[in-house]
Amino acid sequence: MTNPLRIAPLKIGLAGLGTVGTGVIQLIEENRDLIARRAGRPIEISAVTARDRTKDRGVDLSAYRWVDDMGELATAGDVDVVVELVGGSDGPALTLARETLGNNRALVTANKAMIAHHGAELGALADSKNAPLKFEAAVAGGIPVIQGLRDGAAANRIERVYGILNGTCNFILSAMERDGRDFADVLADAQSKGYAEADPSFDIDGVDAAHKLSILASLSFGSKIDFAGVEVRGIRKILAADIAQAQALGYRIRLIGFAEIDGNNGNAQIFQRVHPCLVPLSHPLANVTGATNAVVAEGNYSGRLLFQGAGAGDRPTASAVVADLVDIARKETGPAFSVPTNELESLPRASAAHRIGQTYLRMLVADRAGVLAEIAAAMRDAGLSIESLIQREITDGSALISMVTHEGHEAAIDATLKTLSGSSCLLGEPMVMHILGE
Ligand code: NAP
Ligand code: HSE
Repeated sequence: MTNPLRIAPLKIGLAGLGTVGTGVIQLIEENRDLIARRAGRPIEISAVTARDRTKDRGVDLSAYRWVDDMGELATAGDVDVVVELVGGSDGPALTLARETLGNNRALVTANKAMIAHHGAELGALADSKNAPLKFEAAVAGGIPVIQGLRDGAAANRIERVYGILNGTCNFILSAMERDGRDFADVLADAQSKGYAEADPSFDIDGVDAAHKLSILASLSFGSKIDFAGVEVRGIRKILAADIAQAQALGYRIRLIGFAEIDGNNGNAQIFQRVHPCLVPLSHPLANVTGATNAVVAEGNYSGRLLFQGAGAGDRPTASAVVADLVDIARKETGPAFSVPTNELESLPRASAAHRIGQTYLRMLVADRAGVLAEIAAAMRDAGLSIESLIQREITDGSALISMVTHEGHEAAIDATLKTLSGSSCLLGEPMVMHILGE
């Protein structure tokens, strides 16, 4: 049998030497022989680049050629695959991606922002140039969910895909829950652990999860990526009191990315949302804590699939990047999405108003006679029924009301809030969170 270590290596040009880039270097060096056996040939780094050549990155770069101009990687003779770990939806990462694929060269990226915004263009370019485009690390860090959906579940019609897609938010919510700590304090901790994006508002405002959800929806439904169609709300406004009240009512709060196909052949519509939700304690996602991610996909033959693992950090993300490199070394590629990019369907967006479910409502109210009656009347007029309610005095004169409704149309929640808006009974903006069904 041929020794894989003697076969010509797959040569890598690595752009970006931050959290993920240095993780990739460490993994390729540490597991060199094992990777060569599994890939059928060695995987070697030829050239690297980042902004600052003098920075100490805690890894030895002396064996690799340094290039100042990132674009060189797209044409260099000693590079078979460009690995883009720079980040940013546009700018140098996008230029490098276009140049790499345009030169018929394989591209591996962890850049969900770029794929969410430009995946259709890059996928079409990759198809036309017969150049592999791989982005396993772009969704849910170390979890092989892209491969799981694209290949493992390829025979299924998937009508719903959802999950915990942002490690930073899950880390923050679970630490707030465990320690009763404040939001800002826990965010600093997540940043120091390398989970948060360069701009942490992308994490806490739900944008990062929306990037990932739009990619998962496209792979699952065979639809064009529609990042702009994701309804997005983050976790900034969640109070420690919401977490405590949710727990008392039998739920945990998680930032959930949820995508579903409404209707079928001919009149299918797509619904995509990233919102903090109340998750029943009995649901598997309620027990996902820390920076862990989890994705649920429901296939018409496979049934419910649950993918769970580390969603961020240098080592798990490097694991996903190098898995893509192994596929390329083995020549096990295929279309970037589940079908050729020009065959992805453009689906119209479904509106939220007709969706039916239970909802959590939290209101800071004046603690005086008639307030609860006014709120209950607004709900009655909208046809919304209360399942459970907790009222707690906050200060002399104000109280926090947290309630869970019975199933109702989302339009009824909007109608209730419209009736109450401007009422003297409300002392702050109400908080609405949907409840994830079992
Ligand atoms: P990072 O730590 O901020 O590293 C970014 C790297 O890109 C740095 O080495 C930086 O150079 C380099 N860079 C930035 N702008 C550049 C430019 N104009 N020219 C050349 N180099 C430039 O980011 P990261 O956390 O490793 O993330 C990289 C990618 O992976 C992003 O797309 C991110 O969304 C994605 N991702 C990250 C994680 C995670 O857990 N961190 C997980 C999944 C996916 P200097 O070091 O010289 O400044
Ligand atoms: N900032 C992202 C997160 C990194 O917290 O999940 C992984 O994509």
